[in-house]
Formats: sequence, C-alpha cells, structure tokens
Amino acid sequence: MKKVLFLCGSPRGKKSASLSTALYMSRFLDYDYEFVDVVKARLSSDPTEAEPAFLKIVEKMKEADVVVWTFGAWIWFVPVQMQYLFDKLFTQEGYDFTGKIAASVMTSVRVMDDYIFNRVRFVSEQLGFGYIGDVSAEGNPLFGYVDGEETEDSCRVLAGKINRALEDGYVPAKESAYLDRAYLSPLNRGKGFEVNGPEAGKDGDKTILVITGNRISEDPAGASIVESINRYSRNKVELIELEDHKVGPCIGCYLCDFKVEGVCVLKDVYEEIKTRTHEVDGIIYIGSCASGMVDCHIKAFLDRSWGMDHRPSLKGKYGFAVATGGGHLGKNAAWYLGAVMDKKGTKCIAALTEGDSNDPNFANTVRQTVEDLDRAVEEKWQIADRFTTRGITWTFRNLAAIDGMMLRANYDFHKKNKMFDYPATGGSAAVMRILFKSKKLEKKLIAFNRNRIAKEREERLEKIIKTGTPGKGKNITENK
Ligand SMILES: Cc1cc2nc3c(=O)[nH]c(=O)nc-3n(C[C@H](O)[C@H](O)[C@H](O)COP(=O)(O)O)c2cc1C
Repeated sequence: MKKVLFLCGSPRGKKSASLSTALYMSRFLDYDYEFVDVVKARLSSDPTEAEPAFLKIVEKMKEADVVVWTFGAWIWFVPVQMQYLFDKLFTQEGYDFTGKIAASVMTSVRVMDDYIFNRVRFVSEQLGFGYIGDVSAEGNPLFGYVDGEETEDSCRVLAGKINRALEDGYVPAKESAYLDRAYLSPLNRGKGFEVNGPEAGKDGDKTILVITGNRISEDPAGASIVESINRYSRNKVELIELEDHKVGPCIGCYLCDFKVEGVCVLKDVYEEIKTRTHEVDGIIYIGSCASGMVDCHIKAFLDRSWGMDHRPSLKGKYGFAVATGGGHLGKNAAWYLGAVMDKKGTKCIAALTEGDSNDPNFANTVRQTVEDLDRAVEEKWQIADRFTTRGITWTFRNLAAIDGMMLRANYDFHKKNKMFDYPATGGSAAVMRILFKSKKLEKKLIAFNRNRIAKEREERLEKIIKTGTPGKGKNITENK
C-alpha cells in the first residue's frame, strides 16, 4: 500500500497552523498517511551526525511514496529545525529519493510565499523528488489557518493531485538541474583569498559589528573576509561567531511580536547580541550557503530576530552581507541576507557572493565594499528602499492596522515612527485594540474567536464529507 508522509517542521507542536492545515488535507487522501514531528526529533545542528532520530526520519521517508513538507514560513524559508534535516540529507552520502513525490503545506502571513515555495521545490528536486504542488494558507498564531474555504479547496485540490499521481504512478518532471551536493551542504565553506592591500589607519570613531554563522577558524572564505574588514576599515571592528554563541531556534511563541517591548523570552545570548546591534554603527552578516539558502547558525539568529522585522529598529545603520561557498547559489543566499538586513532597518549597501571563487576581483570587491561602508556610516548615505523592503513594510503596516489587536507592538512602533499612513486604522480594528488592552478580555476574545473558527471549519468539513467524497486513506501515525 502506498503511503504519504507529512514531515512537520513547526516548533509550535499541536498549536501549529500548518499542522492543522495538513490535517485537513489528509482527510481527502486515498492512501494511508502519517505525521512525523521533525522538531520533536531534536535533530542536532551538526550536518555530519547521523543520530538515531535522524535515521528514523530517513527510514520513514524511504518507506513513503509522497513527502509533504508541512511548516510555517520562518523568515522566508522553513523553520531552522527543518533545515537541520536538509543539511544532514545534503551532507551525508547516499540520500536520493528519485521516484518519489514531494509537496508542501505552508501557512504564513503572506510574506514571500512564492519565494519560499521556490526554495523548497528546489531542495526537494535536489533530493531527487518530483514536486507536485503546494498550499499556502494564512496562518494565525492564535487561531490556526484562517482563510477558510479557499485554503480548504486548495488542500482538496492538492490531495486530489497526489491521489491521481499515486494511482497512475506519475512523478512530476524536475524544474531545476541536478547540482553537485557540495554546493548544497553547509560544509562547503568557500575558498580563502589573499588579503594584502594597504592597511587603513584606525582613525574612525565608529564601530562595525561582524556577525558570522560559522566559526571563522573553520571557514577559509569567512576568515579572509573578516581579515579584509579588519584591515581596510578605519573603524573599530567586533566579531560574533554564532556557531560558538549558540543562539537556539525560535519556538514560535510570538511574544516578541505581541509585546510592545518585543523581547525574546528564550534565555540565551540572543538578547545580548540584539542589544549590541543597536549600539554599533555598521553591521555585516557573513553566512555560508546551505540548501541554496544560508547556514543554520545565521538562520537561527534571523528567526529569533523576527520581531525586529516588523519594527525596523536598526534604522540609521548601514551594513553589507556576504554569502560564501554555494557556487552560483551564493547569489540567492547573499540577496536573502541583504534583504532580511534591510527589513530590520539597516541599509544594506551590498550583497556579495564569491560567485566564481577564482575571480581575482573578489578580494578587491570586498575591500571596496568595506571602504564604502565606512563612507556610508560617516556620511549617512541616503538610500531609497527597493521593492522587497518597501512592499513588506507596507504589508506589515496593513497587518498592524487590520490585526492591530494582536500585532499591537507593530502598531505602536509604526505610529511612533510616523510610518503609519494606512487609510483606515479606525473602525473595528480600533475597537479591538482597545479591548485587547485588558489581559482578561484578550484571553476571552482569543478563546471566542478560536472556537468560532474551529466550529465553522468542522461544519464545512462535515458538509463536504457528507455530500462529497472524503479520501479512503487512514491516519497511521504512531502515538497520535
Ligand atoms: C520566526 C518567525 C518567522 C516568520 N517568518 C515568516 C515569513 O517569512 N513569512 C510569512 O509570511 N510569515 C512568517 N511568519 C509567520 C508564520 O509563518 C505564520 O504565523 C504561520 O502560520 C505559522 O505556522 P505554524 O503555526 O505551523 O508554525 C513567521 C513567524 C515566526 C515566528
């Protein structure tokens, strides 16, 4: 009997909106299906480690005919715990799922859905899967998925496609060419280069903070870039190597977003690093490529700083981003790092990639960019937002206006910083915001809305199951 495996990557367990969407979809499958919680497996961040929990997931993947990546959008990709799985699959020998099908069920607040699906499709195809499609739903951290009928129909369509493919033995064609695994593994860190230009005098009074994912002593390209920054910047340079600082994965509690003060509740060094980013003048991200995105250490840091993406509190600062080790995939990774940097308010003056690592101009490009950063910081360059930054800022402005009751941290910030030009901040949104000022009322309103949405969903499902044809598959998850 053929089988569908839902690999769940949300750290929000039973509260996960993507899990509730996938559960809905599973009701329409004609084949047995199973849910495996990738986050609960507590995979290590070491891509070479083949621990029993990892091998168990791999066994499940081998047994299945279809894998459905189930996750909430987490800073324009999957939650970092799911990335640990990708890193291991790309780094360790012999993982190829050719002949099998992959699909995605993702919930998000509709920021960069297409981009994320593109990346997940790319990862799936590089692992050998044929990618059959995806569902994107608006997922609310309090209520599960919210845009009812459209989402539910998309789920039924995807389930139908999977049913037909399994029945006919059809596997979709790949869209991306097969790449050398080295470029997909986080262990491919890029080449070092000679840094021998004239040293800058340290006559600046600014501070530049360099944040790297990897431990620099194990990263030749990263080490040459850090050396260049130290040598060519006229300002003081500080370095934080996240691999040694152990910024743990975000748990998706949303308190950084709900609370006006926006502090992460997890107790590790993250808040200290965040405070330092606010004190310095320039910020540089250096990440190595993994899965065509960035390494899991810097990704975990970016996930944790989600609150700042909605309150761009690093305004007035400048920076640049570098991605190493991914060959031509570096282009995407560098763009990603730079765009996420922009979102926090820091103006990213360049997103560099080693590209062709033999290019003799790379060392010069890094040097020029370091010198430009000094100038930008000192002269306070004016740089206009590009589409991604501006578009996403507007999205959040609108979210804060419409969902002001739960995103009130953004609402306050946007208002205070005169970023709030949304035409209708009044009406029911204003009433909700006032009501949500009371803790007791907030709890009641959340419970009321959650129940209402769940009830409506169940009623629609009942109706469809009565009048239509639910799938014939069974849920065979162990320890449900
Ligand atoms: C750390 C973090 C990062 C997020 N990044 C994105 C994002 O890039 N795009 C987006 O549309 N939503 C983003 N969201 C919102 C979630 O994707 C959304 O609430 C989703 O429904 C959560 O699904 P889950 O409950 O299954 O985890 C993010 C949420 C968190 C906590």
